[in-house]
Amino acid sequence: MKEWLAPGLVTSQLTRSGEDRSYRRMPPWPWKMGQEVFLQNRRAICGTKGGQSSCVCCVRRDEAVVCGIVGYIGYRNACSVLLDGLKRLEYRVYDSVGIAVNNSKKIEIIKEASMVSDLERIVKEIAPSGTQGIGNARWANHGGFSVVKAHSCPSRDKHFILAHNGIIENCSELKETLLAEGFNFTSERDTEVIAQLLMKFYDGDVLKALTSLQGQLKGSYALAIVDEEDMDHIYCMRGGFPMVLGMGEGESLCATDTLAILPYTKNVISMDDGDIAELSSQGIKLYDAKGSPLQKKNFFIDWDLSSAEKRGYPHFMLKEIHEQGGAFRSTLEGRLINGGVDFSGELALNEEVIKRLRAIHLVACGTSYYASLIAERAFERWCDLDIKVDVASEYRYRNIRLSPNTLAVFVSQSGETADTLAAQRRARELGAYSLAVTNAQESTLASCCDDVLLLKAGPEIGVAATKTFTGQIAVLYLLAIYIAKMRGTLTPRMEKELIDELIRLPYKIEATLEREHVVEELASNFSGSQSFLFFGRGISYPVALEGALKLKEVSYIHAEAFAAGEMKHGPIALIDSNVPVLIVAPKDSLHEKTLSSIKEAKARRAPVIAVGFDGDEQLANDASHVLYVPPTREEFSPFVTVVPLQLLAYYMAKKRGCEIDSPRHLTKSVTEE
Ligand code: M6R
Repeated sequence: MKEWLAPGLVTSQLTRSGEDRSYRRMPPWPWKMGQEVFLQNRRAICGTKGGQSSCVCCVRRDEAVVCGIVGYIGYRNACSVLLDGLKRLEYRVYDSVGIAVNNSKKIEIIKEASMVSDLERIVKEIAPSGTQGIGNARWANHGGFSVVKAHSCPSRDKHFILAHNGIIENCSELKETLLAEGFNFTSERDTEVIAQLLMKFYDGDVLKALTSLQGQLKGSYALAIVDEEDMDHIYCMRGGFPMVLGMGEGESLCATDTLAILPYTKNVISMDDGDIAELSSQGIKLYDAKGSPLQKKNFFIDWDLSSAEKRGYPHFMLKEIHEQGGAFRSTLEGRLINGGVDFSGELALNEEVIKRLRAIHLVACGTSYYASLIAERAFERWCDLDIKVDVASEYRYRNIRLSPNTLAVFVSQSGETADTLAAQRRARELGAYSLAVTNAQESTLASCCDDVLLLKAGPEIGVAATKTFTGQIAVLYLLAIYIAKMRGTLTPRMEKELIDELIRLPYKIEATLEREHVVEELASNFSGSQSFLFFGRGISYPVALEGALKLKEVSYIHAEAFAAGEMKHGPIALIDSNVPVLIVAPKDSLHEKTLSSIKEAKARRAPVIAVGFDGDEQLANDASHVLYVPPTREEFSPFVTVVPLQLLAYYMAKKRGCEIDSPRHLTKSVTEE
């Protein structure tokens, strides 16, 4: 049976007009009993309250997601830092925000707001002056902040305030034990269970209590904790959810997302599961799960903060599509030396290990998986190795043979995808050499792998991955060239030819973007379609897969992709005049065959949109519409052919009035299996 929760906040703010700005895709009033509506893009069902006609909405517990935490201690006004940090987390959908800040030797908790701007208004009235505090933006599952006051636990006289992300799976058992021991609860929140447990273990030594607490919690969490009796510290704990720490001059910060703390420091430490951190204005002390002091490497995040803003674009997705040329250039920067790829300053993976390699595995989810499928073709073309590509959620459970002669590459823009992390753990246990390809230097994946290659694409805010997709392919191609060169399977001449074209690619991506208006017009013709079919052959097959994924993610149109050669083996039955068919058809070694797929679809009266190279007149004859892109080498065609597909998804979603940057049911990083 589904369990439904009715967050007070949602109930109290629901208005008959449905005009409240926290509700984005409201169906017209009156809503019917049992009708599905979307609150902040999360599914909710309408019902009645106490038999009255007033409407309440309930959020399904199993759809609960988690959002962000920010913490600050130092010399600045904590409220402004926390509000600013929470605003930077707004791209991760949430339904409530709150902060806890010290104010005249007391901790003030300001919450029950749906938007940071509402919270800002309340904060202005109270004007807390403290320089220490924590903030939490979250989607309700078991609740946000938990304040355990001394009176709820008579045997103790301390109290803690927690900001919690995640779900405690053994919450019920822990609560039962605590109730039997005489603890009282004021809410259903799993956060309160954590807080009470902390109280139970607390005997004046917070660190000791935190290590005991850590041993009891099952599930995934990131915690920031303040103690009203000791306002000189913030404590953080990590168990399955990301948490980064920022070190500034006379100030320390914590956050579940680096973007929240970047304006204050670019010097960050990434916590690992089991780590405990003690933050003060003097610095950060780290401890392992047993409470022993820990040393950790810090990173310098050289992201330009303005790249996390829309800069005049209506959506981050569109901005990030447009950033692909620049992002590509930064991916190449410093890695092309003397006309060749050089990772010697970045990778521990040396010539000796590379020469011993027998196989390369590429493992990822979603768009990152499609980027890996594209790279697979390059690896098999240039390197003499067995290449296997798999989705992480399958790979982790398969009986895969791995050895130190296997290079297992884990591709993830966020570096926090639960399945990818689990697959990496497994590969490492089985002896493979693991390499992370990620955009997040401070991510869990980066810290767990033997080696890391960064995309250097800058922050990607839109949930639909775009510039990180091209960035991933670029890094994987560089890796393939590097490995092939070391293994002697790529001649210097061939390497030079590849590099020369790689350098030209950002310009070709930009030239493709200049034709955006053509895609926008086309989107107007097809925005009413119910279903789309995508086809591609060879290296264009994963491009078709990515195009279909983008379309369904942001426009919610049903889209499926197939290898063009598979058309006759089933998908052809779906083709008729109502189903637009998009065929990725660059002029490559399989072009003739792709053209025949276009004819097959056309013969069944499907509107056919082809993506092809400039000058390919045959396409204009055969297809109903052609989206032309500048020609490039066969291996590199995905860099240009994917761009019109990204734009098509964007404009279709725009015409259909969808929430483009935060599509329903999706999150930027999938931190749960
Ligand atoms: O952060 P990751 O690259 O590991 O994420 C993998 C997928 O969840 C991700 O690519 C997802 O498919 C995106 N929403 C694609 O736009």
